[in-house]
Amino acid sequence: MSTAYRNATPPPIPWLSEGFFDFWSTRVHPLWTLRRPLARLVARTRASADAFTLELQPNRHFGGLAAGQHVNLGVEVEGRLTTRSYSPTALPNGRLAITVKAIAGGKVSNHLAHQARIGEVFALGQAFGEMVLPAQPAQRLLLLAAGSGVTPMRALLRELAGQGMPVKVDLLYWARHRLELCFVDELQALADHHPAFGLQLLTTRDPAQPAARVDAHEFSDVALLETARVLACGPAGFVQAAQQRLQGQVASFQSEAFSPPQLHAQEQGSVQVQLLNSGRTLIVPRGAALLPALEAEGIQPASGCRMGICNTCVCGKVSGVTRHTLTGDYADEPSTLLKLCVNSASTDLVLEL
Ligand SMILES: Cc1cc2nc3c(=O)[nH]c(=O)nc-3n(C[C@H](O)[C@H](O)[C@H](O)COP(=O)(O)OP(=O)(O)OC[C@H]3O[C@@H](n4cnc5c(N)ncnc54)[C@H](O)[C@@H]3O)c2cc1C
Ligand code: FES
Repeated sequence: MSTAYRNATPPPIPWLSEGFFDFWSTRVHPLWTLRRPLARLVARTRASADAFTLELQPNRHFGGLAAGQHVNLGVEVEGRLTTRSYSPTALPNGRLAITVKAIAGGKVSNHLAHQARIGEVFALGQAFGEMVLPAQPAQRLLLLAAGSGVTPMRALLRELAGQGMPVKVDLLYWARHRLELCFVDELQALADHHPAFGLQLLTTRDPAQPAARVDAHEFSDVALLETARVLACGPAGFVQAAQQRLQGQVASFQSEAFSPPQLHAQEQGSVQVQLLNSGRTLIVPRGAALLPALEAEGIQPASGCRMGICNTCVCGKVSGVTRHTLTGDYADEPSTLLKLCVNSASTDLVLEL
């Protein structure tokens, strides 16, 4: 990491709050804080028809990341700090490269892709995520990606290439159109260089030869499939379809969804949610994920991935029945911890929020 961003942690001064310190120190240098990780945007380049790669310089409080992990990025959009997760590639110069697909109507992705200024500073969370490589990869890997789900795969492939591609790896990468594919030259160069790496670029709306979607894809090498560790990443519908397609056929299947699943409205009506710490009582739709339901009422719980992965939105549930939006399971035990992004209210709730 560049020495320009190193700042000595000052001795603790009892009357000096962290917020006060950070307020003044960031006026001297935008990345100087007592403890908080921050990152500054230093460059942005186009990665595909609808995606941009942003190079970020983190400050010294960022603890680094393993290939395949994610970070939460806090971005000010319309005057409000809004957090989303991204899957960086760690660059040799200590910076992080995130590639962001601009989602139609998406708040943070469009800000990052089109509006964020060079020099803008973002809040940065520590890395999280289990889709990482073992210290000595020994098992064949099948990587399945759709859309922006290719970003952790790129980091994993760079890591494997650095080790001389020690195992057989295949990447199947879906997009609608060729112009929406990211990192094509880099992936192609890796495939040319490493016979152990197989690449299939699959465009489902190719006018000449549309590729089958994952649910109808012919996985030709069935014998090898049985020994493969599969990693799948992309929108919720894609990872669900991939899992169904390969169920029982592969050694292991691990996935991370980048977008929330479509909820089937099985529960109707509304419930009362009492927030003990803020002293508010709200009416929210029964069956709706609690995080967006509370946000719609003007409450801003801490959040990150919005997909149940990073634990940022965990709060105490004092009482009430909740339903997990991914598994459909109900939980009625009192005094437990609750992830607001992947739970809905089934009955009235009391939360420590
Ligand atoms: C662990 C993790 C890692 C991620 N890594 C990356 C990454 O490296 N690059 C990247 O571009 N995105 C990544 N994402 C998605 C990212 O966090 C945001 O969800 C995405 O940028 C959209 O945010 P937004 O504020 O623009 O959209 P919002 O305003 O939150 O949502 C707008 C609409 O778009 C839908 N939506 C949100 N995300 C997606 C998506 N990925 N595909 C399709 N529809 C979506 C929402 O359901 C909503 O209907 C990751 C998500 C997770 C959970
Ligand atoms: S916001 Fe990440 S687990 Fe809920």
